[in-house]
Amino acid sequence: MISDTTHSSKQAPLSAATLELFAREVAKYPPAGKQSAVMACLAIVQKDEGFVSLQREREIAAYLGMAPIAVHEVTTFYNMYNQQPVGRFKLNVCTNLPCQLRDGAVALAHLEKKLGIHMGETTPDGMFTLQQSECLGACADSPVMLVNDRTMCSFMSNEKLDQLVDGLRASTTEGAQ
Ligand code: FES
Repeated sequence: MISDTTHSSKQAPLSAATLELFAREVAKYPPAGKQSAVMACLAIVQKDEGFVSLQREREIAAYLGMAPIAVHEVTTFYNMYNQQPVGRFKLNVCTNLPCQLRDGAVALAHLEKKLGIHMGETTPDGMFTLQQSECLGACADSPVMLVNDRTMCSFMSNEKLDQLVDGLRASTTEGAQ
């Protein structure tokens, strides 16, 4: 059994609007294949709530007629699903072997030092979450990282990492001036 030790407070059940979005995804598949909508349903919840709790996994499992562990396997396999709240900028640094051989660990250590947090943590201001990632398919560009699951950054020297972090920080204050 999976136990929720980090976010055990009970959430309200999924809203009718969310269930309607689920139904739209399920409708894309034949009835026997409705479980194929699991990734889309997880993405819908994450878009709404910022992460996917174990409660939401169980609700999605019930909706799709799946075992909760099967949904949990999907959530934990893909880095893009957050199992807990993350910062405004999620930084995923690839530390698989090819990247390790070309300064992947150096990049991660540099970010830990610059942000003052360890891998897996979020800065106290909620701005950055730092994570390791599996191969991003760009080994020749190491060190490589993804920002917010979408923006790939290549050849991340310490200098480029500094520029990236400072630029992201500055971007959050630009509209406020
Ligand atoms: S091992 Fe890092 S991108 Fe492939």
